Amino acid sequence: MSLYAIGDLHLHFQSQLKAPGQLKERVWRNHEERFRKNCAAVVHENDTLVLVGDHSWGRTLAECEKDLQYIMDLPGTKVLLRGNHDMFWDAKKTAALNHQFGSRLFFLQNNYFPYRDYALVGTKGYTFEGPFYLNRRGQITGWDEKEAAHADKLIERELERLRASFEAAKHDGYTRFIMFLHYPPTNILQRRSGFTDMAEAYGAEQVIYAHCHGQARFHDSIKGRFHGIEYRLVSGDYLVWNPSRVL
Ligand SMILES: [Fe+2]
Ligand SMILES: [Fe+2]
Repeated sequence: MSLYAIGDLHLHFQSQLKAPGQLKERVWRNHEERFRKNCAAVVHENDTLVLVGDHSWGRTLAECEKDLQYIMDLPGTKVLLRGNHDMFWDAKKTAALNHQFGSRLFFLQNNYFPYRDYALVGTKGYTFEGPFYLNRRGQITGWDEKEAAHADKLIERELERLRASFEAAKHDGYTRFIMFLHYPPTNILQRRSGFTDMAEAYGAEQVIYAHCHGQARFHDSIKGRFHGIEYRLVSGDYLVWNPSRVL
């Protein structure tokens, strides 16, 4: 019985939405089939696979039908987190999605998923991604203050959702946590954030995140041990479509 994680499958079996240039890199070629094979090789039916957001380019549930079917056909229990591209998933309708998909998929938002003596907690998260202003030497000298203020509001809302997830688990007696975010826990200028503070306050053992695509983004945030917590980036292209073993 093992716990695996990976993010950013960006499936598009139905939707015609054009993927950004970065998703045309070699690593994305036939990635659905490669990931399916990699899962079949390591993930067993009694394992749990957490998919850390950006599941589908479909904008509605109807446009995601085949993508969600692909996910349902993967081995193990599937737990899904919301990514910024998951338009089919209205945060307020998480309970309805859990009702609709029953035991086939679990949608993690304002709730938690029990795994052995751990609670898997999480939310989409958010982090300010610019615009940043650079000098001639490429050093950051400033940023868009208006966008930064807007980001702060989104971060506050996501911190409330994350707290709700931790509290629901705590209420049910859980004391061991693995924390999932779609966005990285910090932006490129930060050493810590409300998300790292919350992970520390509740004693999360690991923080797992995705969203960062392409070589240039893989080092945007914390990786490895920080203040006693293990941070892992699990975006699919970073892992070259091999699910990462968490526990
Ligand atoms: Fe993504
Ligand atoms: Fe994303």
